[in-house]
Amino acid sequence: MKILLTGATGFLGGKLCAALLADGHSVRALVRPTSDLSSLPRPAAHGGSLDLAYGDVTDARSVLDAAAGCHAIFHAAAAVEPWLPDPSKFISVNVGGLKNVLQAARETKSVEKIVYTSSFFALGPTDGHVADESQVHHEQFFCTEYEKSKLAADHVARRAASEGLPIVMVYPGVIYGPGKVTTGNIVAQMLIERFSGRLPGYMGYGSDKFSFSHVEDVVQGHIAAMHRGRPGERYLLTGENASFMHVFDMAAVITGTKRPSFHIPLLMVDMYGWVSVFFSRITGKLPLVSPPTVQVLRHQWAYSCDKAKVELDYKPRSLREGLEEMIPWLKNLGEIKY
Ligand SMILES: NC(=O)c1ccc[n+]([C@@H]2O[C@H](COP(=O)([O-])OP(=O)(O)OC[C@H]3O[C@@H](n4cnc5c(N)ncnc54)[C@H](OP(=O)(O)O)[C@@H]3O)[C@@H](O)[C@H]2O)c1
Repeated sequence: MKILLTGATGFLGGKLCAALLADGHSVRALVRPTSDLSSLPRPAAHGGSLDLAYGDVTDARSVLDAAAGCHAIFHAAAAVEPWLPDPSKFISVNVGGLKNVLQAARETKSVEKIVYTSSFFALGPTDGHVADESQVHHEQFFCTEYEKSKLAADHVARRAASEGLPIVMVYPGVIYGPGKVTTGNIVAQMLIERFSGRLPGYMGYGSDKFSFSHVEDVVQGHIAAMHRGRPGERYLLTGENASFMHVFDMAAVITGTKRPSFHIPLLMVDMYGWVSVFFSRITGKLPLVSPPTVQVLRHQWAYSCDKAKVELDYKPRSLREGLEEMIPWLKNLGEIKY
């Protein structure tokens, strides 16, 4: 199968690209002229082939050219940041990019399936309950512009599905695991901060909740969605629902180190976020923590992946299992010491 993949130079896309090649597919990766290609997988001896199409998801022509002759499209590219100095980028890339991919699929007669990587953010917070695919975002508030753009893109994807495009929408939770350490790999970033001592305490008091999805499970969920996902359906590719405090506690047990001994109130993290944003505007370097991150931490995002388990044979591993693999990987990489 010839597959167009967007976002192959990212955390999830890199792993997805490797898995598709290992399955023997020919992958065409849409990359930007500025993309860091160093993490792109090398095709295995008996695997499929990889070719690069230079372009940008915001450039409709480049997406259309890249889609030529492809049988399926995985659209995983997005601006994945809690904060950007120019928030309009979230809409142009995350919504405009999806529109261009869908238009390319309409015009490219060979495309039989599109798997669109949405996000748990598109379904909205779950404060106090565990949501499934039937949850509709309340749209009363948004913690981040990213969340708003993923919801807007979700509307676009669902409209396209209702018009008959063979699109399957997948909604990963917080993706973690070995792979490129981008902003998308927030668990890796948090563990690096934690073990370097730059983040000495828990952020808040553990009332947050996220669904942690191991990157390899999410990859398998995407591939299953291409083979078995019903067009027009949504599938949550989530995992264990837990707080970041629980992640830190588990990391302490796995590494035989001490747990953080105090909590940093979210108000203080928020102030730190404002200062970080101020400096970011001067230096141009994106902050690790910004006020929107704190807004996200003030809510719960807990989901059930039962539908994917039944229909896609999705088998999420436990958080403990995932961290037991990821933490030594970060150590071997020299990113953390314990
Ligand atoms: N990470 C998570 O926890 C999480 C959770 C739920 C859903 N998701 C979704 O999963 C997908 C992948 O996320 P990720 O964590 O792998 O993000 P990532 O590591 O930041 O990767 C983003 C990818 O998108 C590409 N991209 C960005 N803007 C582009 C543009 N204008 N044209 C073409 N490519 C562009 C990037 O290319 P460059 O290398 O050129 O920058 C990169 O390959 C996204 O759709 C995200 O919304 C992520």
